Amino acid sequence: MVQTNSVNSQASVFDLSSYLAERQPLVEAALDQAVPLTYPETLYEAMRYSLLAGGKRLRPILCLAACELAGGSVEMALPTACALEMIHTMSLIHDDLPAMDNDDYRRGRLTNHKVYGEDVAILAGDALLTYAFEYVATATQGVPAEQVLRVIAALGKAVGAAGLVGGQVVDLASEGNPDVTIETLTFIHTHKTGALLEVSVTSGAVLAGASEPDIERLARYAQGIGLAFQIVDDVLDITSTPEQLGKSVGKDLQAQKATYPSLWGIEESKRQAQQLVDEAKAELQGFGELRQPLIALADYITARTH
Ligand code: FPP
Ligand code: MG
Repeated sequence: MVQTNSVNSQASVFDLSSYLAERQPLVEAALDQAVPLTYPETLYEAMRYSLLAGGKRLRPILCLAACELAGGSVEMALPTACALEMIHTMSLIHDDLPAMDNDDYRRGRLTNHKVYGEDVAILAGDALLTYAFEYVATATQGVPAEQVLRVIAALGKAVGAAGLVGGQVVDLASEGNPDVTIETLTFIHTHKTGALLEVSVTSGAVLAGASEPDIERLARYAQGIGLAFQIVDDVLDITSTPEQLGKSVGKDLQAQKATYPSLWGIEESKRQAQQLVDEAKAELQGFGELRQPLIALADYITARTH
């Protein structure tokens, strides 16, 4: 699954496959526990259907790694890590709706509204979004209240009009417009995907009580990998099969969406993604050995095929 299994550094070899094999089940179990099945069952089933549908769990894993890097523990960041996945999942449920991308498949299975209907899918997304904030506020332990409050505020900013929602609006408005500029495209991606990836990393650091310069360095790391992630996503939409991606491919071309490959070509897009990843990794130079997971995750972004 992971293409680049190990990352050679000056001091050690870090095995990303084993790291993910340990972290992914940890996140799965925490998510399963965070949203138990209860009345009204249809709603909770719909929430759990998308939340527990697999996925790379990149955002939670970045959050946990950043917390540890800044001297915190997994326990301190686990509720925020779960909240990030709840928010990411709800954004995908809504993104797949007929009013937006009208997609039938996600993570290799039918989309939420195809199984539960549009009404329940919208509500399941709403419930995941609101519960994410409740969960950070009520389940976080061993962290000073002002750090938890800062994380809640940062999450709200990353998800709302200044983040995901704003990026999605510009994305939808740009569909079918062949004259979309690189600036607009970059606005879309820094907001639609970048903002949540950035807060995934910075929230972990904030929970651990990191210094402002360290939080800023980690924010720049996250911005770099966020944009690289999107460029690679655009390339994969052209070069992959539905089996590899677990969702339909070639959609960007079909929807006449401007993408990095459509503006730069595939090779230049790959080069730009690699440069962003290299710059992101350079931001971590001042940190010790605990930076290895974040370095390997950055490399994984450009090496991934699905
Ligand atoms: C996938 O993009 C979609 C997103 C990353 C987020 C979309 C955001 C919303 C629907 C707003 C949700 C509402 C709140 C309150 C957060 P894509 O369509 O480019 O990728 P895909 O091929 O995986 O669908
Ligand atoms: Mg979509």
